[in-house]
Amino acid sequence: MRQARILSAGMYLPERVVTNGDLEAIKELDTSDEWIQQRSGIRARRYVSNGESGTDMAVHASKQAVENAGLTMDDIEFIIYATLSPDYTFPGNGCFLQERLFGDRTIGAMDVRNQCSGFIYGLAAADSFIKTGLYDHILLVGTEVHSTGLDFTRNGRDVTVLFGDGAGAVVVGPAPEGHPGIMASALHSEGKHARELWLESPASAMNPRISHEALDQGRHYPMMNGRVVFKHAVTRMVEVSHEVLARARRKIAEVALFLPHQANMRINQMVASYLRIPEEKMVSTIQWTGNTTAATIPICMCEAIRQGKLKENDLVLLTAFGSGFTWASTLLAW
Ligand code: ACO
Repeated sequence: MRQARILSAGMYLPERVVTNGDLEAIKELDTSDEWIQQRSGIRARRYVSNGESGTDMAVHASKQAVENAGLTMDDIEFIIYATLSPDYTFPGNGCFLQERLFGDRTIGAMDVRNQCSGFIYGLAAADSFIKTGLYDHILLVGTEVHSTGLDFTRNGRDVTVLFGDGAGAVVVGPAPEGHPGIMASALHSEGKHARELWLESPASAMNPRISHEALDQGRHYPMMNGRVVFKHAVTRMVEVSHEVLARARRKIAEVALFLPHQANMRINQMVASYLRIPEEKMVSTIQWTGNTTAATIPICMCEAIRQGKLKENDLVLLTAFGSGFTWASTLLAW
C-alpha cells in the first residue's frame, strides 16, 4: 500500500487584532492582561469582522495550501473540513467550500466534528483515503469563528479570553516511493467528560431548540471546567504521544518538531517537559492567535515553515486534546 503525506500548508487570520488590553477595556468582562498572560501565555488573538465567515477564511487558507503544493483546484478530489463553529447548523462548511472553490465540480465534502482534535481526526481519514487509493489529493481544512459566540461578561471570562478566530489548510497526497509520510495516528474519545467543555444550546435534544430561558441562563455560550480540562489535557497528550511513537516504532529523541494543539502555553510546556522534548523543538503560536481549535495545527505548521523549522524527512509529532473529551496524535515524516 502506498503512503500518504502532507504536501503543503496554508493559513489565514482575520485582520482584526484583539489584544489583552482590548479585552481589559471591556469593563463587564473584568479581566486583565496580566491574568491572561500568566495563566495562558496569550497576548492577542484575531476576530472576524464585517460578516467574515469560517468559509471565507477557509477559501484563503485553501488557496494558499493548494498553491504551495504546486497544484491547482482541479487536482483536488475531496474536501475534509474540521470545525466546531460551522457557518450554519446544516449543511456543514464542506459544502459551502465546495461551492466557493470548485463550482460545478461536485467533489465530495466531509465535515469533522472533533473540536480541538478535529484536524488530526481529519488527517487520519485523509491518510486512509489516500493509502487505499480512493483519492490522490485531499484538501483538509480547519477553521474556527469563536468570537461571535463568546460571553463578554464576567460569567464567560475564563473561556472568552482563550479563543481566537482563524483558518488553516493542508493538501494531503501520495508520498514518493520510500518516503515514510504519515507513519501512525492514534485517536481517542471519552464522552463521560463531554459536559466539562461544551456548548449546550441550541440543541435538537431540547424542544424548542432554543428558549428564552436558555438564553437568559447563557447556555448558548461555551462552558468549561478549566481545571478538569487542564489536568486531562496534560495526561492524555503525553499518553497519546507515547502511543503513536510506539505504533511507529520511533523514539521521542528522533522527533525533530513537536506541533501541539495551542489551548494554553502552560499545558504545552508541561506536556513537552513530561515527554522530554526540549522547548526549541516545540512551535508556539498561541501568543498571537489564542486557541483557534481545529485551525490550530495547520497554522502551527505554517509558522514552523515560516521559521524554516520544517525540513524534508523531519519527524514531526502532532498532538491535540479538546472537547468531547477527544484527543489524538499523528507521527509523520515531513
Ligand atoms: N480574568 C481574570 N480572572 C479570571 C478569568 C479571567 N479571564 N477567568 C477566571 N478568572 C478567575 C476565576 O474566577 C478565579 O477567581 P477566584 O479564585 O476568585 O475564584 C481565578 O481566576 C482562578 O480561576 P481558575 O479557573 O482556578 O484558574 P486556572 O489557573 O485554572 O486557569 C484556565 C484557568 C486558563 C481556563 C485553565 O484552567 C485552562 O487553561 N484550562 C484548560 C483550557 C483548555 O485546554 N481548553 C481546551 C481546549 S478548548 C476546546 O477543545 C474547544
